[in-house]
Amino acid sequence: MKAKKIKTIAVLTSGGDSPGMNCAIRSVVRTAVGNGIKVYGIKRGYTGLINNNFQEMNASSVGNIIQRGGTILQSSRCPEFREKKNREKAAQILEDRGIDALIVIGGDGSFKGASALKQEFNVPVIGIPGTIDNDISGTDYTIGFDTAVQTAIEAIDKIRDTAASNERTFLIEVMGAKSSSIAVKVGICSGAEHVLLNKDQVDYKKVSDTVRKGIRRGKNSSILVVAEGEKPGRSYEISQELAEKYDINSKVCILGHIQRGGSPAANDRFYGTTMGQLAVESLINGETEGAIVVRAQKILCAPLLDCNKKSDHAMREFVGIAETLSI
Ligand code: F6P
Repeated sequence: MKAKKIKTIAVLTSGGDSPGMNCAIRSVVRTAVGNGIKVYGIKRGYTGLINNNFQEMNASSVGNIIQRGGTILQSSRCPEFREKKNREKAAQILEDRGIDALIVIGGDGSFKGASALKQEFNVPVIGIPGTIDNDISGTDYTIGFDTAVQTAIEAIDKIRDTAASNERTFLIEVMGAKSSSIAVKVGICSGAEHVLLNKDQVDYKKVSDTVRKGIRRGKNSSILVVAEGEKPGRSYEISQELAEKYDINSKVCILGHIQRGGSPAANDRFYGTTMGQLAVESLINGETEGAIVVRAQKILCAPLLDCNKKSDHAMREFVGIAETLSI
């Protein structure tokens, strides 16, 4: 059967924003416009979709945004979209506006919403992975990860100055409620003594032995990178336990949402741009349920259903390196 000609599309950003989302929006809009396709931006993610909050976009609407963090379309977490009645409303709004396909830039939860729209109401959808966590199944990379990691590394480099000057141990908590990718990469790149993953029990004995060994060898500071886990602030509990049971005093620094902001790094500009373009081209070529992914350094359109789960695949295997090198 011949694919339906795409005349009008819509694009939204959903979930936690990430640096590089604007690059993807820019690329989607300009690729569409260049191919004679009308394009709407939907404000505030799925919330804007079910509230009919659309704006038509043209090449100028995305001028001067390639370097800007956040998302010009704004984003939201939208629990209402888990209800079928709201997805039905969304599908109706898209149909009433004559929209042939939707592009969703976001994480695994946003992809689940997109899959449901396709499966239940036959709305053609393409997902572009955008989250600082790098934790979506089926893709080696998600837009925003590199910038977030770089932001955290720069912060730790600064903390090292004060840690060394005052001979202190620091627990530095990085983002990733259910993912350890940021923690592992940041830990390796900042020369941390230990990386404490979010799902694992803290091995206090091992951590305190490492810190003590470092002190004996003449190290004047220790950096422990902690993945935030379900509840941001777990580092305070860890710090207390280290003090009370192992006699190790530490300072806590929670980097928090600073990791979500800032001008996108080169990788995030590159993947935002190339993925945005391929998303529109895939629709033109008749794709109706895809996700744009990076696999073995190639950018391709994969089945969306392969990519709507969480996956901590990307970095966990490297976690031991920080400890090995902290002798
Ligand atoms: O978008 C991903 C993420 O930044 C996670 O790393 C973090 O755990 C979570 O979002 C924080 O969510 P919120 O901004 O809604 O508090």
